Amino acid sequence: TAGDIEVLPIAGRIGAEIKGVSLHAELDTHSVSAIREALLQHKVLFFRGQHQLDDAGQEAFARLLGAPVAHPTVPIKQGTDYVLELDSNHGGRADSWHTDVTFVDAYPQASVLRAVVVPLSGGDTVWANTAAAYEHLPAELRNLVDQLWALHSNDYDYAAHRPQVSDSAKQHHREVFASTVYETEHPLVRVHPETGERTLVLGHFAKKILGLSSADSAQLIALLQSHITKLENTVRWRWSAGDVVIWDNRATQHYAINDYGDQHRIVRRVTVDGDIPVSIDG
Ligand code: SIN
Repeated sequence: TAGDIEVLPIAGRIGAEIKGVSLHAELDTHSVSAIREALLQHKVLFFRGQHQLDDAGQEAFARLLGAPVAHPTVPIKQGTDYVLELDSNHGGRADSWHTDVTFVDAYPQASVLRAVVVPLSGGDTVWANTAAAYEHLPAELRNLVDQLWALHSNDYDYAAHRPQVSDSAKQHHREVFASTVYETEHPLVRVHPETGERTLVLGHFAKKILGLSSADSAQLIALLQSHITKLENTVRWRWSAGDVVIWDNRATQHYAINDYGDQHRIVRRVTVDGDIPVSIDG
């Protein structure tokens, strides 16, 4: 029952470990409400040892949070309806700061990530709280970003982040991850539909701030990212196989640390449908 659920905050501004709950399709509504409430408050929730979940169980649990949605370009894992598998042996290393799938109008509200194979050392993931980041900006910068919009696209510059990779790997990535180019525009500052908080909408799919030169845009994005990813806004998770992490994709960015070399890492993600961001002007 919800009464048994323990919420243990981890970092000062983001992240809580949830104890006393086994995630599954028939979880009672009180427990689901308690999880939702904790998610809105802490932005990222960590559940250890959820070995009862397989792919179908993960999909069924995610459905309790909203309608699961398949990734628009990356093929879903065979035998599943929605599971995106990130396998380190096949380029699945999400080692740059991003919010999932912001290159579509209504990007996912939440992601449910399950660790299947974890390296003996390394391979942690870090999340940043984009509401706290906005709140802690100087008022002058808040006033500036309140008015701005950005272009988001999945035409992600894979090579820029991986100077060592071969041309064939780059080509493979382009075919799989950007087989269709999506573009959309979002306000830089989004009013969270449930908490009313203002959150910064950036991350690696944000290509350009509208109305600025490419050079000014790049510098302003870098400046804002440096605020978002200040360590005070972050929490870092050391994975064990069977861990499940849920994040509010409207209020966070994340980064999968690529420090485990040839060791194997597999995580599987199910995202839950979201709505179109609303700016502070409505
Ligand atoms: C993701 O970017 O959704 C996956 C993060 C991870 O591999 O830890």
